Amino acid sequence: MRVWAVANQKGGVGKTTTSIALAGLLADAGKRVVVVDLDPHGSMTSYFGHDPDTLEHSSFDLFLHQGAVPNGLPQQLLRSTSHERIALLPSSTALATLERQSPSQSGLGLVLAKSLAQLWQDFDHAIIDSPPLLGVLMVNALAASQQLVIPVQTEFLAVKGLERMVSTLAMINRSRKQALPYSIVPTLFDRRTQASLNTLRMLRDSYPEHLWPAYIPIDTRLRDASRAGLTPSRFDANSRAVIAYRALLKHLLNQQMAAQVA
Ligand SMILES: Nc1ncnc2c1ncn2[C@@H]1O[C@H](COP(=O)(O)OP(=O)(O)OP(=O)(O)O)[C@@H](O)[C@H]1O
Ligand SMILES: [Mg+2]
Repeated sequence: MRVWAVANQKGGVGKTTTSIALAGLLADAGKRVVVVDLDPHGSMTSYFGHDPDTLEHSSFDLFLHQGAVPNGLPQQLLRSTSHERIALLPSSTALATLERQSPSQSGLGLVLAKSLAQLWQDFDHAIIDSPPLLGVLMVNALAASQQLVIPVQTEFLAVKGLERMVSTLAMINRSRKQALPYSIVPTLFDRRTQASLNTLRMLRDSYPEHLWPAYIPIDTRLRDASRAGLTPSRFDANSRAVIAYRALLKHLLNQQMAAQVA
């Protein structure tokens, strides 16, 4: 199984959309995918028709055993989605009680890694949608993954959030054996606005090695797909955003191969 996290300490930058778009494309290609919702707001869980306010069991359950993960629990928590090859490990609002906890105090930093280890044979790919706060959940997401995708909205303020995310990553890397490879993905790009163009230029100057050299355009079909509860590629395989996400997936898979060879 390959595990990717999608994270940024800024809200509304396209994390959930990117997670689901990539998962959908992998699943279309025949991969068995598990998507993990670690955000207490549960947008990914709602996207697939489950209510994070009323779910009795969720990824929260994994954190209730002093850092151990009972055998079979991750499998029991999985829910179905509109795509037959995507399973969902849902979020619930109870996760909010964990969000701000410090992982070093709680001993809960590796719960998700241990949980995914139990699903290793069942799936080809896991994609984790992370909350925007740096706490035990974000640390779990980064500790469990082999590659990180950082969506950045192409507007001026978003670059500040990115700086924070990159310094968080540097901190996390100190406790990992290998630095976590990451790709910065410009999202919600509107080529008619100067802010989008300027931000893209700034990202190219500041992060030349980590920036995916294209962008995800603004595309209202993504909102329509979420309203329909379908992955963007199932909703409209040829929309502008899906075409861009397909190129992004190719880039990430190439990067993953390069990392494996290195
Ligand atoms: N490329 C795009 N074009 C148009 N709308 C988009 C695009 N990407 C995301 N959106 C919309 O923008 C909103 C925010 O996107 P999304 O929920 O993916 O961001 P997020 O980073 O997960 O937000 P949060 O921090 O609240 O979890 C959603 O309504 C989504 O449908
Ligand atoms: Mg989200």
